[in-house]
Parts: sequence; C-alpha cells; structure tokens
Amino acid sequence: MRLIHRVADLRAALAGQHHTAFVPTMGNLHSGHISLIELARRTGPPTAGPIVASIFVNPLQFGAGEDFNRYPRTLDADCAQLAAAGCDIVFAPDAAEMYPEPQTFSVQPPLADELCGQFRPGHFQGVATVVLKLFNMVQPRYAAFGKKDYQQLFILKAMVRQLNLPIVMLEGETGRAEDGLALSSRNGYLSAEERAEAPRLYRLLRVAAQQVASGVIDLADIEAGVADELTRHGWRVDYIAPRSRSTLLAPTPEERDLVLLAAAHLGRTRLIDNIECRRQALKVP
Ligand code: PAJ
Repeated sequence: MRLIHRVADLRAALAGQHHTAFVPTMGNLHSGHISLIELARRTGPPTAGPIVASIFVNPLQFGAGEDFNRYPRTLDADCAQLAAAGCDIVFAPDAAEMYPEPQTFSVQPPLADELCGQFRPGHFQGVATVVLKLFNMVQPRYAAFGKKDYQQLFILKAMVRQLNLPIVMLEGETGRAEDGLALSSRNGYLSAEERAEAPRLYRLLRVAAQQVASGVIDLADIEAGVADELTRHGWRVDYIAPRSRSTLLAPTPEERDLVLLAAAHLGRTRLIDNIECRRQALKVP
C-alpha cells in the first residue's frame, strides 16, 4: 500500500486506471469505515482497479465552535488498518494541498438547510465541495459511502446524478457496536457514563421503526415520543425526523419507504443515527 500526500503523485499513480474504487474519510478509522473498503473490493469488476482511501479532516465542513481542532488524527493506525483491509493507495493531503488558494467556488447542495444542515450551517456545502474535489483528483469509477451519514449520502448521490459524474455510488450499512451504538469517531469523546447511555438513541429508533411498520402510531407521535424519552435521560435533541427515503422530505401519506433520522447531544458530543422502515399500507375503508 502506498501513502500519497500530493495530488500530482496521486494522479501519476492512477494514470490509465478506469476502475478505481474510492472511499473518502476523515480518518480515525473503525470497522464501519473498513466495511466500506470491503464493499468497494466486493463490488469491483473482475478486472478490479485499485482501491483508494482518502484521509482528510476537511476544515470547510466544520462550523465555528465545532470539533475541528480536537477531531482525532491517527494516520499511522489508520494506514495499518487500511493495509490489512487490502487498500492500495491512501491519499492524505494537508490543507495547503487541498486548498492551495481560498476556496471561493463551492457546491451548493439541495437539502443543505434541512435536518443536520439546520444545526450545522454550511456543513453540507463543505462536504459536497471537498467530495467533488476529491472525485476530480481520484477520478473513481466507484465510490463508497455509509448510510450512517444518511443525509450526506443522499446529497452526494444527488450531486453525482445532477452533475453527471461518471461514478457508481455504493452504499454501506451502518457498522455498530454490540450494544447497537453506531460506530463513529466521535464516540471517543464520550465519558464512560455517556458511553453506557449512548445506545439508547438506536434502541428508541428501533422501537419507533417497529411501531411505524405495524402502523400503530402517528409519525408526529414518534417524533415527540423519542425526543421526550431522550430528554428525560439527559440528552439535548436537535431533531427526530421521519422522512421519505426518496426525497428526504416529510413523507406524503402515500409514501411507505421511510427513514427515521435523529441527531442529539450527549454532554459535549453530538451523535447521529437513523433507521430505514416501511410503513404499513393505509387501510382503505
Ligand atoms: P467520515 O465521518 O470519516 O466517514 C467516512 C465514511 O465512512 C462516510 O461515508 C461515512 O458515512 C462512513 N461511516 C462512518 N461511520 C460509519 C459506520 N458506523 N458504518 C458504516 N459507515 C460509516 O463522512 C465523512 O467522513 C466526511 O464527511 C467525508 C465524506 C470524508 C468528506 O469530508
């Protein structure tokens, strides 16, 4: 496996490759990230091209007062995991290589002010801009992203479609700890007590998804019920939102393929999670 820091070296290493598979990350890798490398490897054509992972903590997607400075940077351990997973190239540029001049062009994505965007102004613009830059650097045929960041995946799929990028998007399921907590680099911020409390978020989403599937509850009651339960246990809720999987907007009464999205703070740590569910068909009297 090669570790590359410069765009010119990356382009030289990938010259003539038409089947590159790409997994962008911010590092501090866990088995959720590694499952995306495996997804990329499984999905490649018989004449599979190289697998490239990027590691870059993108300042553009962090707001003032967010955790950019304390975001964990663990390049050596990340490279060891990537090599073991069969990654061919790690691209780890520094900020000057990624942004050699002020980034005055940017991608303005849809849904940028919805859900997480409402609480993180400019976040998805920063994500879409850096991912488009990375796509232009790597020129992948395949790119893998996790459903853990459901809104990010939705926005990036729309970018690929609407900007005609010749990239097949691969979607990875959310990797979880045994107690159900979605793996995240930010879990490392949690105290022992908070770590013990954290699985409540996904537990409540699972119960809510079952209620939606069996049609026993109104969607508005889901939002209020989950939010109340979290608040009672010391969380500060940003949102609990049942949305249509196809639009990520509030579902029309006919839409049955839903996703319940959630973001909430436990102490200083903001956690997100989601679960897909299928609503029971409305009973016609
Ligand atoms: P990062 O948070 O490092 O995540 C990199 C990729 O791993 C994303 O596609 C994310 O959805 C996926 N991922 C994170 N946790 C996961 C889990 N528990 N199971 C499965 N996949 C998981 O997302 C970013 O970085 C950045 O926004 C990035 C796209 C790299 C742009 O800077």
